[in-house]
Amino acid sequence: MAKGEKSWEKRLSGKSDPKAVAFVESLSYDRRLYAHDIAGSIAHARMLAGEGLLTSDEFDQIADALRRISEEITAGRFAFDPVHEDIHMAIEAALVERTGDVGRKLHTGRSRNDQVATDLRLWMREEIDRMCGRLGDLQRALVDLAGRYAEAIMPAYTHLQRAQPVTIGAYVLSFVEAFERDRGRLRDTRRRVNICPLGSGAVAGSTLPLDRHSTARELGFDDITHNSLDAVADRDFCAEFLFDAALIAAHLSRLAEDWIIYGSNEFGFLTIDDAYCTSSSMMPQKRNFDLLELIRGKTGSAYGALVAMLTLLKAQPSTYNRDLQEDKIHVFAAADVVAASLEMTAAIVGGTEFHVDRIAAGMSQGYLEATALAEYLVSKGVPFRTAHGVVGSLVAECEKTNQRLADLPLERLQAACAAVGADVYETLDPATVVRRYRTEGAAGPRQTTERLAFWRRELDAR
Ligand code: ARG
Repeated sequence: MAKGEKSWEKRLSGKSDPKAVAFVESLSYDRRLYAHDIAGSIAHARMLAGEGLLTSDEFDQIADALRRISEEITAGRFAFDPVHEDIHMAIEAALVERTGDVGRKLHTGRSRNDQVATDLRLWMREEIDRMCGRLGDLQRALVDLAGRYAEAIMPAYTHLQRAQPVTIGAYVLSFVEAFERDRGRLRDTRRRVNICPLGSGAVAGSTLPLDRHSTARELGFDDITHNSLDAVADRDFCAEFLFDAALIAAHLSRLAEDWIIYGSNEFGFLTIDDAYCTSSSMMPQKRNFDLLELIRGKTGSAYGALVAMLTLLKAQPSTYNRDLQEDKIHVFAAADVVAASLEMTAAIVGGTEFHVDRIAAGMSQGYLEATALAEYLVSKGVPFRTAHGVVGSLVAECEKTNQRLADLPLERLQAACAAVGADVYETLDPATVVRRYRTEGAAGPRQTTERLAFWRRELDAR
């Protein structure tokens, strides 16, 4: 077949406008599916042979040629011609070129509609596994970091105002929990991805005897789809995957934002490795966190992909429409941006150091112990709302005189609330407060150490 020609196409006049060819093609990005397309085609051909629609010799010729095409594409030796529109046509055209009429039998009982849905599901299944692996790597880096600071303390913030003392370990582990939910969401999405639409044809299935279960089994799917109209139109799995990716990006962005704030001179809580800093072209003293800013900024691309996907699904008439071709642009874009950000974040976390002494020296600022003092009063029988008021007034007074709660003499504290005893001062030291946290999942050293042990076991077992 000559370049730029579709030998099988007889319905249309054959005239083509190069602008139209360029506009309709997806080959420039869906070639990424080549290995999945070929795996799907070999499974389909084997099934056709099983049903007597191909001889076993024809199957061998098709499978051999497809494997050679796959090797050539992998090696970069395959010449793609944009006239073939997409990866499915490009591979089929090469097959026909090499095997003639035998290759012309491959598309029996199949449409690009069920073919592309199958390919994309196969690709996504692998991508989800890769993404879960990257989440695991980041979790490991975070657990290692948390393990170095299981007992060291820092202020926790709400509304970016100093709130209560916590261990640095508990703070770092908070991200491990979030990334675990991301992993769970991906595993859950994977169950709906791993269903085989092959055999649904263009929209109605086929009059030929196709054994859908055998192709699904060969391709490692858990089940087959049960409605051919839905099967060729369904891209819910793309929207789900993109939501999962968007939420990972949100979590990465929050981590990046914290690191940027905590790494500022004003905070001075942490330093990241020089390898992940950039300098300024003008200001010689600068050591910027541009990579973290980019991780934060790239969240926009992940969100954009989700919104684009949801928008392209909206108001399409049943069933397959070419709009769906655009799904891959968004799915690939989000997968790539999230993969790069996950890897970079893991590297940055691995090169992070918290300045324990500097943080500890600042712990007396901000009345971090106020809640613990109120709870101390509760333990002496004072109703919580009353205790809250007592401590609030004491803090207001201390703020005026620039004192800490621990600076107040016992008589002053007792004047504020008769229930105060001499043991109150233990409560007024943030380092003691964290050790007094009793609830499960609290941010004290005991809970941090327990949860660290859990995560080490969990991540080792993966
Ligand atoms: N390249 C197309 C896609 O990605 C393949 C399916 C085309 N089907 C069709 N009937 N035009 O969706």
